[in-house]
Amino acid sequence: MKVLVTGGLGFIGSHTVVELQNEGFDVVIIDDLSNSSIEVLDGISSITGFKPVFEKLDLKEKSSVVSFFEKHKDIVGVIHFAASKAVGESVKEPLKYYENNLNTLIYMLKSVLDLECSNFIFSSSCTVYGQADSMPILEKAPVKAAESPYGNTKQIGEEIITDTCKVAPNFNAIALRYFNPIGAHHSSEIGELPIGVPQNLVPYITQTAAGLRAQLSVFGNDYPTEDGTCIRDYIHVVDLAKAHVIALQRLLEKKNDSNYEVFNIGTGKGSSVLEVIESFERVSGIKLNYAYTARREGDIVSAYADISKSNKVLGWESQLTLDDAMRTAWCWEKTIRKL
Ligand code: UFG
Repeated sequence: MKVLVTGGLGFIGSHTVVELQNEGFDVVIIDDLSNSSIEVLDGISSITGFKPVFEKLDLKEKSSVVSFFEKHKDIVGVIHFAASKAVGESVKEPLKYYENNLNTLIYMLKSVLDLECSNFIFSSSCTVYGQADSMPILEKAPVKAAESPYGNTKQIGEEIITDTCKVAPNFNAIALRYFNPIGAHHSSEIGELPIGVPQNLVPYITQTAAGLRAQLSVFGNDYPTEDGTCIRDYIHVVDLAKAHVIALQRLLEKKNDSNYEVFNIGTGKGSSVLEVIESFERVSGIKLNYAYTARREGDIVSAYADISKSNKVLGWESQLTLDDAMRTAWCWEKTIRKL
């Protein structure tokens, strides 16, 4: 069965391609290489033994999307990762984000609706909840006003899909709301490749330990949490990748309860920034150089998932621990830096 993965050379996309191939799917990747590297294809094929079909394509060009689907009418499902994802950049360049994330989604949906088998998995984010009123966060928690244009594109993306599902009964979609994806494949063949200075905690930690950054700034230690640092739900990227395969199989086997479903993908456990640093130090044996600095604007205090719906209804649960994620993130950093 042929599956299209857009953004399939990115961090979550590449790990999902591996899990799809492991389950026997025939994968076609579209990526514009704007935030990824062609070498990821070799990483994927050295893990699975199969090089997926790859097309470098800009999904903002509607005619390219249309001609792609004319060639691939036998696609049975689409997993749509392709999007810009830097929160800070989205504040500075909102139109780039609305164009990249929404136009491309609309063009994809228009083409997917014409397929005989129109199944769609959408990369959403826990950012849609903002600072939720209570923890853990249930899927039915209210969607709060977005903190950034990036977050807004995820909210509007979900709305576009919801409205499409209302008028297209044969179209089936699942939105997966990711918490904080971290880690790398245990083979160290693929992992996260942030361009420039990392904005996210874990690549910043591993780059500091690798000597690329002098010191990690811990943004705030006066939050109303046990150790004063923010709490997040860090999910191993391999577990997250497997959730996509399970979600797609649910649609292919017509097990979905309605033609639009939403699931949280997290561990259900919150970890503080200090706990993440401790985990890194434990698995690497390295003492990390960090210092407390001011809070980062826009950071919420705490976010972790209620995972009962994804466990019971989707039939997925995370298997890997925070230590597994930090160990693989560190092995990956050492591999790419040749340490
Ligand atoms: N942090 C630091 N120092 C750093 C980087 C991060 O202390 O150098 C802290 C942050 O303040 C936060 C935690 O580490 O408390 C996690 O920060 P990340 O930037 O790794 O992740 P966020 O939770 O801020 O953002 C992630 C995704 C976004 C998504 C958001 C949803 O990166 O794409 O979750 O809440 F929108």
